[in-house]
Amino acid sequence: MSAMVKPQIKKGAFGKTTNQDQVELYTLTNANGMEARIMTYGGTVVSLKVPDRNGRLGDVVLGYDSLDGYLKNNPYFGSIIGRYGNRIGKAKFSLNGKPYTLPKNNGENTLHGGAKGFHTVVWKAMEVKPRDGVALSLSYLSKDGEEGFPGNLSVTVVYTLTNKNELRIDYSATTDKTTVVNLTNHSYFNLAGKGSILGHELMISADKFTPVDAGLIPTGELRSVKGTPMDFTTPTAIDARIDQQDEQLILGRGYDHNWVLNSVGGNLALAARVYEPTTGRVMEVYTTEPGLQFYSGNFLDGSITGKGGQVYNKRYGFCLETQHFPDSPNKPQFPSTVLEQGAKYRSTTIYTFTVRK
Ligand code: GLA
Repeated sequence: MSAMVKPQIKKGAFGKTTNQDQVELYTLTNANGMEARIMTYGGTVVSLKVPDRNGRLGDVVLGYDSLDGYLKNNPYFGSIIGRYGNRIGKAKFSLNGKPYTLPKNNGENTLHGGAKGFHTVVWKAMEVKPRDGVALSLSYLSKDGEEGFPGNLSVTVVYTLTNKNELRIDYSATTDKTTVVNLTNHSYFNLAGKGSILGHELMISADKFTPVDAGLIPTGELRSVKGTPMDFTTPTAIDARIDQQDEQLILGRGYDHNWVLNSVGGNLALAARVYEPTTGRVMEVYTTEPGLQFYSGNFLDGSITGKGGQVYNKRYGFCLETQHFPDSPNKPQFPSTVLEQGAKYRSTTIYTFTVRK
């Protein structure tokens, strides 16, 4: 473990957007020397340096060295996703009998908030004092009608780096008109810091998942994982079953599905644990959300050269996106994503980092 250091936040410039808006980069360091870099464009986690079993820090998230990459070609690396994370089928839904039409940016469907989702906006940053560690508060006002969604939505996302080596994300939002909200973070993890993620061992606390159609829209069924390649109730290497001739794996081109977490009532609970055998790094994900999208980086294809010149080939990163289920606005049987005027949206996810010797 690195020597104790004073927890701190440093602010620096990270460039300008195509609209000439200034983008800042904040470096958060905790008492153990663990470091998170977060930029105001997309509220993006740009790097996350955590110790391996020998105490050596390594960056466990994918991304670019400079803002330019994020502006030009960004598969949502590390960003905050909204107003509606994941897919809305046929790019429409209705609320109180009123239809709303959204931009189609994923075949017939809307993905991750539309073409100009929260991952493309510059957030307003403020340092805040948490009880433990250091924290950065980001806020954004999404205007009524933005990307087709109703209501002025005022959103705050607080990133806290605790001295227990946790990256905690607290989301909150209010609206002045009934709307739908589903916020998440789209970090691509690779606990080895490089190469394929196929050897990582994954556990997901879920007995069910939401099977999808060819457009990756849930059919509405909650299906048992038992006896299928979706069963991660006991730790299993990601590659153990990924190439099986399974209908759902074929539709997802690998894993790209939502798991129905076993937790109840919106209480913070363990959703997943990932272990990387070569470095000993362990990541746990805790969340108040009912769902978890496990995406195995199937669309990475070597066309992106990221940080330090690393070429991101297929399955070189994975995402664990805590969320409400995809297409909930069109699935009355799913937990609701509706936010009423006067109500407060709240969601918390914690990524904890430890090692196994
Ligand atoms: C999400 C989706 C995937 C893919 C990635 C980005 O997690 O579920 O299908 O679109 O984002 O490439």
